[in-house]
Amino acid sequence: MSSEKTIPAGDGLATPGTIRDATAERDAEACRDIYALYVRDTAVSFEEAIPSVEEFEGRIRKTTATHPWIVMEVGGKVVGYAYASQHRPRAAYRWTAEVTVYIDSHYHRAGIGRRLYTELLVRLRRQGFRLAVAGITLPNPGSVGLHVAMGFEPVGVYNRIGWKFGAWHDVGWWQLDLQPGRNTPPREPLPPDESI
Ligand SMILES: CC(C)(COP(=O)(O)OP(=O)(O)OC[C@H]1O[C@@H](n2cnc3c(N)ncnc32)[C@H](O)[C@@H]1OP(=O)(O)O)[C@@H](O)C(=O)NCCC(=O)NCCS
Repeated sequence: MSSEKTIPAGDGLATPGTIRDATAERDAEACRDIYALYVRDTAVSFEEAIPSVEEFEGRIRKTTATHPWIVMEVGGKVVGYAYASQHRPRAAYRWTAEVTVYIDSHYHRAGIGRRLYTELLVRLRRQGFRLAVAGITLPNPGSVGLHVAMGFEPVGVYNRIGWKFGAWHDVGWWQLDLQPGRNTPPREPLPPDESI
């Protein structure tokens, strides 16, 4: 899948913009900058130190070898990103993808999370993944609202599983069946660029 592939605006949603594949060279800094706030000021991320741009380059490279990582640009600026990654390393989990999304705080509630997830889920289905899962530090009405709006169902809550900023935090899990009703044996998930 080309990194230049874009989804034009004009689909009736609130914010015009384009969605495209992320690349390490082009998007690491912008994605890191969006993420930094959530590391520094919130328990949305359980990281304690803001990662470097080089670290983010490595994350994008590693992720895009097997899973999608997409960004949304508005007026030429990256304002949000979403990606999927391996949920757990054991073999039988390989049709399950863990999904994550971060939007620049100036652009919340403008339909960007929904658009990024819609595209991310299309790509995961194309690659042959069967289940998407998301872990959300609670409370997070925005993230819970987005996942519910996308059709995710609640699975359960790990109570007091993370310690950050002098407090214990719960993490709720949500899941979405990507190919409902299909109980057939799965084919091997394809790499992102072979999935069309
Ligand atoms: C969570 C987040 C990704 C949502 O993205 P967004 O672009 O603001 O969401 P959208 O505008 O696409 O909203 C889509 C739907 O999600 C739900 N939603 C979004 N924000 C919500 C909020 N604050 N409260 C309740 N529901 C919300 C609504 O159903 C909304 O549809 P509507 O606007 O038609 O009512 C964004 O708020 C964000 O980046 N938060 C900080 C980082 C984070 O929590 N990431 C998730 C980690 S698990």
